[in-house]
Amino acid sequence: MSITDSKILITGGAGFIGSHVVRRFIKTGKYQVINLDKLTYAGNLENLRDIEKNPNYEFVKGDICDFEFIKSLFKKYDFHGVVHLAAESHVDRSITNPMEFIQTNVVGTVSLLNAAKEAWQDKKNRRFYHVSTDEVYGSLGDDGLFTETTPYDPKSPYSASKASSDHFVRAYGNTYGFPFVISNCSNNYGPNHFPEKLIPLMIHNIKNRKPLPVYGKGENVRDWLYVEDHARAIELIFEKGNDGETYNIGGFNEWKNIDLVNLLCDIMDSKLGNAKGTSRELITYVKDRAGHDLRYAIDASKLNKELGWKPSLQFEEGLEKTVDWYFENEQWLDDVTSGDYLKYYDENYSNR
Ligand code: NAD
Ligand code: TYD
Repeated sequence: MSITDSKILITGGAGFIGSHVVRRFIKTGKYQVINLDKLTYAGNLENLRDIEKNPNYEFVKGDICDFEFIKSLFKKYDFHGVVHLAAESHVDRSITNPMEFIQTNVVGTVSLLNAAKEAWQDKKNRRFYHVSTDEVYGSLGDDGLFTETTPYDPKSPYSASKASSDHFVRAYGNTYGFPFVISNCSNNYGPNHFPEKLIPLMIHNIKNRKPLPVYGKGENVRDWLYVEDHARAIELIFEKGNDGETYNIGGFNEWKNIDLVNLLCDIMDSKLGNAKGTSRELITYVKDRAGHDLRYAIDASKLNKELGWKPSLQFEEGLEKTVDWYFENEQWLDDVTSGDYLKYYDENYSNR
């Protein structure tokens, strides 16, 4: 199918991945993008300053759970497509406060699905793209990769909420013939990443000479992908993916947490002019996350074979770019870590 020259709703566009997706769609010049975001602690309009005056871009503040409001948006804009990213996204927060995750990730997704279903009843060439995570597949042992046919086995409240929303999207496809695609992606990193997640938290703490909290023994493995490579995959799947299909997106880039933190320490020491090893001294092993998934790793060969996508950046290059971005955007980092936020987070959500 071809969806071009069209109006699309991007949800969660003020967040980390969403901001890169909005920018990517705007830069094509083919779309009118309406970015709907509630601006929770994770949403930040600074992430989109460079494109906010683009005539094809519009920001709308609102909650995906507010069904009447979402229906009114569909009426006003007659969207051709939805790229749905709005979510609560942090596993540690989901452990402390699962209800918020059920509300936004499950109820919010179904509210969007329902509004789209009603609005698109007699319309052709529409597409609902649900952006999901590899965490729905559960946890791997030392071997193997998640494929699109790996059975769902979510193990954290976050992944259970994302799995539930994936199921609802497919159920709408099966029951109502609703046009959808889903992608399940591995861990992202890059600019605009909120410093509660591993990589930006470590960058922030190294910069401020604070302890680097590594959960458990640091042996958990994640498969890291540069966020712009994810945004490029999303554009490709939105435009060229097949209806009703799922695509796994991953970095072919597995790292044990402790090895990653050591590498980041070394990159930052060299940029800060420190002697090698200075930042590694900040590493502090802390109590493990409850139910901590051991390993995630994605087999993205379907996306590669069918649509020709592959990651463009080597990890070290991507990490350097990321560190440089945080150095060049100190104000951004100061703003999002100022006030009570990190204190609140330390007290409520983390193992630190
Ligand atoms: P994020 O937490 O940085 O951003 C989420 C955005 O959603 C924020 O701008 C927030 O304000 C908005 N939002 C939250 N609740 C909302 C609501 N009720 N209504 C409207 N907007 C709301 O998240 P992210 O890391 O950018 O992740 C985006 C999506 O990608 C999520 O669906 C996540 O599950 C998925 N994903 C993330 C990763 C990752 O590594 N970060 C990997 C795979 C998939
Ligand atoms: P995170 O960035 O929270 O992503 P996810 O849990 O969705 O994979 O965490 C990545 C890995 O880093 C995960 O194994 C947990 C670990 N971690 C730490 O060791 N210390 C920390 O302070 C954080 C936030 C995460």
